[in-house]
Amino acid sequence: MVQEHVVSDDFLGKWQQTTNVMAEVFDVPAGLIMRVLPQQIEVLVSSHTPGNPYEADEKANLNTGLYCETVMATRAMLHVPHALEDERWKDNPDVALNMISYLGVPLLWPDDEVFGTICVLDSKKRVYQQRYVDLLWEIKRAIEADFQVMDQQQKLIASNADLLKVNRALLRSNGDLKAALDRISTMQGELLRAEKMSALGKLVAGVAHELNTPIGNGLMVASTLKSNAEAMAGELEVGVTRKRMDDFIGSIDQGADILLHSLGRAAELVGSFKQVAVDQSGAGRREFDLKKTFGEILATLAPAIRQSGHSVLCEVADGITMDSYPDPLEQSLVNLVNNALIHAFPNGAQGQIRISAHRLADDWIEVSVADDGVGIPALNLARVFDPFFTTRLGQGGSGLGLHVVYNQVTAALRGSVRVDSEPGRGACFTLRVPRVAPAEHAA
Ligand SMILES: Nc1ncnc2c1ncn2[C@@H]1O[C@H](COP(=O)(O)OP(=O)(O)OP(=O)(O)O)[C@@H](O)[C@H]1O
Ligand SMILES: [Mg+2]
Repeated sequence: MVQEHVVSDDFLGKWQQTTNVMAEVFDVPAGLIMRVLPQQIEVLVSSHTPGNPYEADEKANLNTGLYCETVMATRAMLHVPHALEDERWKDNPDVALNMISYLGVPLLWPDDEVFGTICVLDSKKRVYQQRYVDLLWEIKRAIEADFQVMDQQQKLIASNADLLKVNRALLRSNGDLKAALDRISTMQGELLRAEKMSALGKLVAGVAHELNTPIGNGLMVASTLKSNAEAMAGELEVGVTRKRMDDFIGSIDQGADILLHSLGRAAELVGSFKQVAVDQSGAGRREFDLKKTFGEILATLAPAIRQSGHSVLCEVADGITMDSYPDPLEQSLVNLVNNALIHAFPNGAQGQIRISAHRLADDWIEVSVADDGVGIPALNLARVFDPFFTTRLGQGGSGLGLHVVYNQVTAALRGSVRVDSEPGRGACFTLRVPRVAPAEHAA
């Protein structure tokens, strides 16, 4: 199948000039560049010379015995000096146009396909000398060099189209990637929710576990008291001694003490658990002066601080008016100071606790509570905010203090909290909260 090559106007113009000069040099009426089409042959370029019977764009059917057809079929030069004197050529279609002499060579495309021919025709007998033949071959080669350039150009255009396709495919896969990313962030959101749910589950389990001891103790004492009372009721029928009565009252008193202690512990635990549940109602929002509020908090902590013997330094910048929730902030500060008092100086060392608060850029406030105590071992550092993580199990620690801080700061105040510590170099808790709590929270 013959491929039709598109020839740009630039090349057509150039070849027109070549053909004109060629016809002049050969001194013929017609110099032609022919192009083969699937079923026909076409005059692509025809020299502008007097007496030229051919016009560009003219087409002729193949298989009619044209000179050019033979050139294309044999891929060789054809020289017919005088067709009418030549048995093989006397009836060829060009004779009708009085073109009785012919010299032509094939034009080959870079892939070796036949493009067409370049030829000169005359109305009289011509026997060309070798240098004319050589000249025609030279012109042929010059045109074939142009074919090379055209071929390269077409390949460039094609590879450009391929590049465009690749580009489009890249854009599409980019879109796919974005969609995948969206899916991942949705999944992340779900995971986060699931994590929160499982944290809640753990919390509930922890609460149940913690309450189990005081309530179990209470139950046991209550049932002992009940059976004691029943026994006493029976004994009273027959009469009891004074000593027996004293013992009975003593056991009731003791039982009541244990009950009071257990129920007190349970109430205390319930109190801390209530703190864990952050008040999300948005109630309690107001404007307050940070320095004044910190002063009030420290006043309530003063007895505990005095008793501990440690010194507490408070440096809060003047003139910071918060528009936020003072209760969660107060609760967090109290828990942090209490922790420093309880955990930082276990061996009776005299320590210092430094509280500071100042404004950050973008209207955020940074609050820090730092001590110069024993610090927190690296292993524990990641767990101190977990519910029920405590190093004072059985010594009054429930491990909820920092969990409450975390919840209040992140959920109520919409800020963040971090801890920095090295063993032996104290611990520093840093809260960052917006000075004006986000509006949607108050809704
Ligand atoms: N300033 C500090 N210095 C050293 N260790 C600390 C400090 N603050 C907290 N910790 C460690 O972090 C743990 C967790 O603190 P958190 O306040 O959550 O629980 P807790 O104080 O043990 O018990 P709770 O506060 O519920 O009574 C503590 O048990 C302690 O080991
Ligand atoms: Mg604590």
